[in-house]
Parts: sequence; structure tokens; C-alpha cells
Amino acid sequence: MSSGLEDVVAAETVLSDVDGAAGRLVIRGHRLEELAGQRTFEQVVHLLLDGFFPELPDPSALAAALGAARVDVFERCAPLLDRLARLDPFDGVRAGVALLPDGDALGDALRLIAAPGVLTAALVRARRAERPLAPDGGLGHAADVLRMLTGVAPGRESAAALDRYLVTVCDHGLNASTFAARVVASTRAGLASSVLAGLSALKGPLHGGAPGPVVAMLDAIAARGDARAWLEGELARGERLMGFGHRVYRVRDPRADALQAGVRRLGDAGAHPAVAARLALAQSVERAALELLREAKPGRSLQTNVEFYTAVLLEAVGFPPEAFTCVFAMSRTAGWIAHAREQRATGRLIRPQSRYVGPRPASAEGAPEALLTAS
Ligand code: COA
Repeated sequence: MSSGLEDVVAAETVLSDVDGAAGRLVIRGHRLEELAGQRTFEQVVHLLLDGFFPELPDPSALAAALGAARVDVFERCAPLLDRLARLDPFDGVRAGVALLPDGDALGDALRLIAAPGVLTAALVRARRAERPLAPDGGLGHAADVLRMLTGVAPGRESAAALDRYLVTVCDHGLNASTFAARVVASTRAGLASSVLAGLSALKGPLHGGAPGPVVAMLDAIAARGDARAWLEGELARGERLMGFGHRVYRVRDPRADALQAGVRRLGDAGAHPAVAARLALAQSVERAALELLREAKPGRSLQTNVEFYTAVLLEAVGFPPEAFTCVFAMSRTAGWIAHAREQRATGRLIRPQSRYVGPRPASAEGAPEALLTAS
């Protein structure tokens, strides 16, 4: 038995393929490098959903359909935003998603894909005592989410950087949250139930919760001025270095390159003067961390994962660290929904076995002694 189920194949999928030895990610037949920075989020949502919803519109019409879904989500959730805003942003997004219908149609899917962006922007604003802004269904998803977050139309570079991020993390094999979403879909519960399962799994720091702590790490190192000493202190305390290591990749996560390139473009564009300095700091921390991890775990190849440059990119476009996992959910919801539909179409009820290692009943008839004496 392997308690982390590594190397256990639990589904066949046409959605994505993670080659951990080569450091390659394929999404529906396209290498990540052909998609990130090349296609919009809406185009990649279409790629993921294609074949799973008979009523799916053309790729060119999907942006408008997703825009309409943002407006619909805002109208449904607006009366409850004050209460949702009392929660931490991720819990607020999850509670908002739980208010949506648990159906199986394309309309349900688009609402669920639209919801994390609408809710994240509104809840971050509420924490700053700013009123929520209604979506503009005519904008692209990334641009509209940034507009709803900041209150101003984003520059082209910022919208492109967020678009690149959303494309980069939309699907990634049978990771923990996708598996959770598929398990729920296998019981024939609706799409919202699968998305809620995915959200709950994504929340943990070993999965989608790592990029917030990456910002804390960069800030602490910037204040101290000695990356190696700070990182050594973390390892000496038995802490893991956030943004490094992966269950599947034994080489650098290709998504780290895609996102690092996105940050570099933002810095080169000059619209964000602080970005170039932050990128330089991140690169020097990355070098020090990789060197230390090589020394500390010589038998294990621990490399940079997606979360490291996620933190730098999302910070640069204006999200606060406590909302980073919500932004991950904005993208991955599309993957969860495609997997849920695939599971329903091709899979069975997922019901593995456990091996019982607890006490055996004492008597030959099988009744535990303690219970017999109690009665
Ligand atoms: N920093 C320090 N040590 C690490 C590490 C990290 N980021 N990642 C793994 N290790 C160590 C483990 O402590 C373990 O050491 P041990 O054998 O002495 O106990 C060894 O490397 C193997 O780790 P393991 O727990 O088997 O790896 P995993 O495949 O279960 O874990 C992660 C993968 C992602 C959970 C893990 O690398 C991690 O916690 N990374 C930090 C969190 C993070 O960035 N998450 C985002 C993932 S995309």
C-alpha cells in the first residue's frame, strides 16, 4: 500500500498529461508553451470543455457567455457579500460557490468558472472597506477581474499576465483537488459539489495554499538581506521551503518557467517599476533555496514548483497574498469541471478499499468485549 497513492492510476483522461521526469505538461494535445501567453483563458476553457457539453458555443462566443455568467453570479451573490466578507477570502469564495445551483448544464459550469473571480474581487474590496464593483460582461475574464479588484481598467500587460497565469494552472493531471472533484462526480452529485470538493482540497498549504507564504518568505529575506541564512534557519526548524518540491516533477516545473516569463514581461513593460527588483530578489532566493535543498536532501531532486513565481506574478498584478489561492481556484475550476464531466461519462463510482489495522473483536462470535460488558 502507498498512503499517498503515488504511481496508482485511478482515471483515464484526455485533459492533461504531466511528465514529471521530462518536466513537460500537455493540455489536450498542446504543450504548455503553446498555450501560456499565446491563448486567452476563455480559449483554454473552451479547449477543456470541448466534447463535454453539447451546447458549448464556438470559442469566439465563449468570452461573451463567460461574461454573462459573471454578471449572473454577481447578481445572485451581491445581497450576501457583507456576510461572506466576514470570512477569510478563500472561505468566502467557497461559501459563495456553495450558494450556486448544483446542476450539470453548461450554464451551471460557466457560473462556477465565473464565480471565483467575481467573489474574490468583491471580497478583497470589502476587506478594504470598498464597495464591490459589478462585472463588465464585455471584457475578457482576466481584464474584468482586475478591473473589479482595483476599480480601474487594467493595463494590457497586467491583464495579459493574469491571463497567462490562468492558462498555466488550468489543469494538471490527477492532483489532489482534481481527484477530490472526480470522486464527488463519481457519486453523480452536481458540478457545484465537485467544485466545492476541489476548493476544499486546494486550500491546504501542500497544494494551493503555498504562494501566500512565498511572499512572506521574500519579505522576510528582503528585510534580513541574507537568503541563505534565512532559508537555513527554516530548514533547521524542520519547515519546508514553500514553492519548492513536487510529488510528480523531478525536474523544474514547466509552469514555473511560464510564470517567470510572465513576470519578466511585466518588468520589461515598465508599467510596474517594482516588479524588476522583486523578480531579481526572487531569482536570488530561488538559487539559494535550490543549492540548500540539494545539500539537505541529496537523494531527492527538489526543484522550483509553480507556486514560487505564482506569488511574484499575482503580487505584481495587485492581488494581496491572502487571495492567491482564490486566484488559483479561478483557473482550476475549469479543469475540475472538465474532469467531473469526464468522470461521469467514462468512470464508475470511485470506492477504494482500506486495510483494517485496528483491534480485532475478542470473542469468537465477533462482539467486542468492551461493548458486551457495557451492555
Ligand atoms: N522544503 C524542504 N524539504 C522538502 C520540501 C521543501 N519544499 N519538499 C519536500 N521536502 C523533503 C521532505 O521533508 C521529505 O524529506 P524526508 O524524506 O527527510 O522526510 C523529502 O523532501 C520528500 O518529500 P515528500 O514529502 O515525499 O514529498 P511529497 O511528494 O510528498 O511532497 C510537496 C510534495 C509539494 C507536498 C512538498 O514538496 C512540499 O511540501 N513543498 C512545499 C509546499 C509547496 O510548495 N506546495 C506547492 C506544491 S505545487
